[in-house]
Amino acid sequence: MKEINYAQVLETIHQKISPHLQEGKTASYIPELSKVDVNQFGMSVCLNTDVEYVIGSSEKNFSIQSVSKAFSFALAYKLLGERLWKRLGREPSGNRFDSLVLLENENGIPRNPFINAGALVVMDILMQEFSNPLKEILVFIQQLSGNPNIKVNEQVRKSEYESANRNFALAYFMKSFDNIKSDVDELLDLYCAQCAIEMTCVDLARSFRLFSTQGLNPWSQKRILSKGQTKRINSILMTCGLYNAVGDFAYRVGIPAKSGVGGAIVGMIPGELSVATWSPGLDSNGNSLVGILALEHFTSLTESSIY
Ligand code: DON
Repeated sequence: MKEINYAQVLETIHQKISPHLQEGKTASYIPELSKVDVNQFGMSVCLNTDVEYVIGSSEKNFSIQSVSKAFSFALAYKLLGERLWKRLGREPSGNRFDSLVLLENENGIPRNPFINAGALVVMDILMQEFSNPLKEILVFIQQLSGNPNIKVNEQVRKSEYESANRNFALAYFMKSFDNIKSDVDELLDLYCAQCAIEMTCVDLARSFRLFSTQGLNPWSQKRILSKGQTKRINSILMTCGLYNAVGDFAYRVGIPAKSGVGGAIVGMIPGELSVATWSPGLDSNGNSLVGILALEHFTSLTESSIY
């Protein structure tokens, strides 16, 4: 097998992405996120052998936003298994992450768990299953990352709740089809809190070993998800993790991944490694512009992808 000098690969990526840092724009629709300086980049790679490589601001906290949807979906799928598909689809939507357009024709069943509508249904499921769903999500993420200090940024949570008109609309619309059971204010409070969780690239890459190791707790090696469940979550990350840019991401990068409007992208190559990038400047689809570029260089330089 080819020896890869990951430290050198990350150095090369850092040089290649630096001229592009100013090209993206922060998420302007959430005031707290719009204040973040675009001139930042971090990356962390975590091999399944437990060896890690980092570059840039890999230990800086950022808002994980929609990356949280991968964790809460894994939690809901672990609890409900295939029953979950009564309320959710598993097809890419081809629309923006916060779009309402498909819901009317599809009877309030969101296309997949990673668009906002789908994530709201996942929140609703966790609210029915747990008395304190936010605590369960946080503990799950803390266990996976090995970082007990991971918490919600209360300023971002508030800012997000105050600008969540589209998400309120999605939730009320799905409630009209009886696909949301909880109180919508409480549902939105939980959704905004999970999006406002802060993590670093190192935390994210470590956490995604759940998916790169076929469902094991990365620290204790105890099984969290079955191999079959992990295979299926990874396939949904591949087909839905980057919303309406998922085809371009598969073409350019070629790994299952999840993005967030805070600028994070985290993905993995099953059986090999997990990799997280963070750079807050977004492209027109709401994905980190430099993050995609860095991951494109990563899979090209290491000649590795799932294809
Ligand atoms: O609901 C929202 O709009 C944000 N809290 C999360 C969206 C997001 O991260 C989409 N990802 N690229």
